[in-house]
Amino acid sequence: DRLADFLRGMPKAELHIHIEGSLEPELIFQMAQRNGVSLPYASVEALRAAYAFTNLQSFLDIYYAGASVLLTEVDFFDMAWAYFLRARADNVIHAELFFDPQTHTMRGVPFAVVINGLHRAVERARQELGIRASLILCFLRHLSEDEALATLEEAKPYIGRFIGVGLDSGELGNPPEKFARVFAEARRLGLRIVAHAGEEGPPAYIWGALDVLGAERIDHGVQALKDPALVERLVREHIPLTVCPLSNIKLCVFPTLAQHNLRELLDRGLVATINSDDPAYFGGYINQNYLETFQALQLNLGHARRLAENSFVASFASAEEKCRDL
Ligand code: ADE
Ligand code: ZN
Repeated sequence: DRLADFLRGMPKAELHIHIEGSLEPELIFQMAQRNGVSLPYASVEALRAAYAFTNLQSFLDIYYAGASVLLTEVDFFDMAWAYFLRARADNVIHAELFFDPQTHTMRGVPFAVVINGLHRAVERARQELGIRASLILCFLRHLSEDEALATLEEAKPYIGRFIGVGLDSGELGNPPEKFARVFAEARRLGLRIVAHAGEEGPPAYIWGALDVLGAERIDHGVQALKDPALVERLVREHIPLTVCPLSNIKLCVFPTLAQHNLRELLDRGLVATINSDDPAYFGGYINQNYLETFQALQLNLGHARRLAENSFVASFASAEEKCRDL
């Protein structure tokens, strides 16, 4: 129909995509084969069949196993390039990609291999696809702050190749306060700041992300509606939320898409955006997230324009770039 065509065709920004979460089973098996890595799954179909999650942790276990096939600079390039081809098909013109260096350095893959492979894909996406992309380094919150500090030290020689830092992995039991010092150092370095908060965790974790980490944007943040004072703060300060509807359903944050609170977030004046999170695992890239959410929540053309506008406003593009995008 016409709304679906409009959603597919409208230029948009994607601000919440874990590049390791774009690794499709076919590419996982191809890389396992060429790198001599053995997988605990017999086939692409067997791996896909394991994608039945009950919460965030049940997903993370499989997501980290999938990432174990990434060894060389070419692997990181190929993964990101495959995402950029999907992004172009969905009319994404600006993308900010999360990457999890600790998932790889812990396995002995040098930080340089990770960032150089991703950076080459970012450059080529600009040249050949006209996609403006940048990288955001995420710290794994189930690990210690000392490990995050060591990762930031390793990243310093490559500071020109990423624009900011984020915080991801298992939220419950790993509050923002645990990472106060490493985010203070990141701010001192002039990096942009985001954090996952209020995906499964309570509103207190969103307050902590803002007040302790200095987050400029909240990843997920769907639990904010439980705290009216927090909603007021997010609205007043125009703090964007990068919402990932299909992810929230697959990880059982909401029972069904019809029960998702995106419409209410928008109605309350929050700068909410639609994103894919880990598209290879959650059943769709960004346009699929738009299409299914619009259908389930009966959203209209006005919502479509607002969400696309929000995606550019919430991005870390320069003021001049935003002017052209909007
Ligand atoms: N890493 C990849 N996807 C994630 C998510 N949805 N929440 C936390 N950490 C993640
Ligand atoms: Zn995420």
